[in-house]
Amino acid sequence: MNLFRRKPISEDPHRDTELNRALGAADLVLLGVGGIIGAGVFVLTGVAAATQAGPAIVVSYVVAGLACAFAALSYAELAAMVGGAGGAYGYAYAGFGEFIGWLIGWDLMLEYALAVAAVAVGWSGYANNALQAAGLGIPDAWLLTPQEGGIVNLPAVLIILAIGLLLAAGVRGTARFNAAIVVVKLSAIAVFLLVAMANVDPANWTPFAPFGWSGIMQGAALIFFAYIGFDAVSTAAEEARNPQRDLPIGIIGSLVVCSVIYILVALFLTGIANYTTLNVPSPVADALLNAGFRWAAAIVAAGAIAGLTSVILMSYYGQTRVFFAMSRDGLLPPFFADVHPTRRSPTKVIIVSGILMAAIAGVVPLNEIAELVNIGTLAAFALVCGGVVVMRYRHPELRRPFRVPGSPWVPLLGVASCFYLMANLPLITWERFVIWMAIGLGVYFLYSARHSVLARAD
Ligand code: ALA
Repeated sequence: MNLFRRKPISEDPHRDTELNRALGAADLVLLGVGGIIGAGVFVLTGVAAATQAGPAIVVSYVVAGLACAFAALSYAELAAMVGGAGGAYGYAYAGFGEFIGWLIGWDLMLEYALAVAAVAVGWSGYANNALQAAGLGIPDAWLLTPQEGGIVNLPAVLIILAIGLLLAAGVRGTARFNAAIVVVKLSAIAVFLLVAMANVDPANWTPFAPFGWSGIMQGAALIFFAYIGFDAVSTAAEEARNPQRDLPIGIIGSLVVCSVIYILVALFLTGIANYTTLNVPSPVADALLNAGFRWAAAIVAAGAIAGLTSVILMSYYGQTRVFFAMSRDGLLPPFFADVHPTRRSPTKVIIVSGILMAAIAGVVPLNEIAELVNIGTLAAFALVCGGVVVMRYRHPELRRPFRVPGSPWVPLLGVASCFYLMANLPLITWERFVIWMAIGLGVYFLYSARHSVLARAD
């Protein structure tokens, strides 16, 4: 058994794919922004400010943003050079061999699936708040999981299934729907920033870092969640019309837009509200409400629901593309590699993943899930950054439409910053991560290593 057989890189970036090449540069930037802005900024900013960083949460955002910038540059180089629907899974397969490729693919599938489930639970909370405001609250039995005394978190299940239908209908409609909700969430953030800027009380910014440097770093490790999503753009490589030019634009462009927004939101959220009041499920809307701006709070709540919807959409999208790519390579059952003949989307993967994710979101309370998603993503980011260095050494001849500036230092800084953030995550997160990867090892040796398309070609 050759654990390190490497997948050859296709010379032709426009190689045949059964998927539908329908996306342009603007679609990719919007998909990135759709996948990035969500529960992280609308919920975790407040939680992290109140419990970890204080007003210095803005510094946490800069630190996590830097780690993401290194990773985004590396993603851009590999996405334009290697392509493929599997994103980081495909780059690892080509650069480090099948075993590492498998581990990262397995890791990404969990990461995206949990992001879908976690954000769907957040969505359910926001949607119920909105319904309550209209006098139509959902009974607890249909909102809480069995462990919490309910039956099932029905809204979380329904939103996942609805998004699954949208994805199954095809990538063109998905991109259009995403663009519409991105406009809603960006408008809501603009309203927040305008109102907050005019009502800042600088006294709220002192003490600036009540929990010291370690609090700022723990805050960075948590709100790293807010940046996740630009990586999912890389899984659109086979659905982009001009992937070599447009994937780097989509990945880096969406991260730049969101970083600027996040730093401003962090600054002004802690400027209009005392950080100690922000440990609530909807801190951004509550800050406006407490400052007396009911109308603006309602707009922000609507924007948050829109934001969470597009994050579910994009994480679900990324999950299915990685799953699809792994099945096409024989590492998971080939049944899942089928593409619908007219919609040209991997419908079987979409249906099966959707049912599994809906089951998780419906019955598991997901408090610490964001940190588990973070550790998985950070591991993938570190590998992508390392992959740039390895590929430059192993394949100097390949055409690189986009090159990370300052290689190998910038990618190596990326590896170091991802590991540093991982080190700041709680022990329990590490334990869960190790368990999931151990299950992955079992599946690899029992199934994937033997069914791999490359293995059969050996
Ligand atoms: N970045 C995504 C969010 O914040 C995962 O919801």
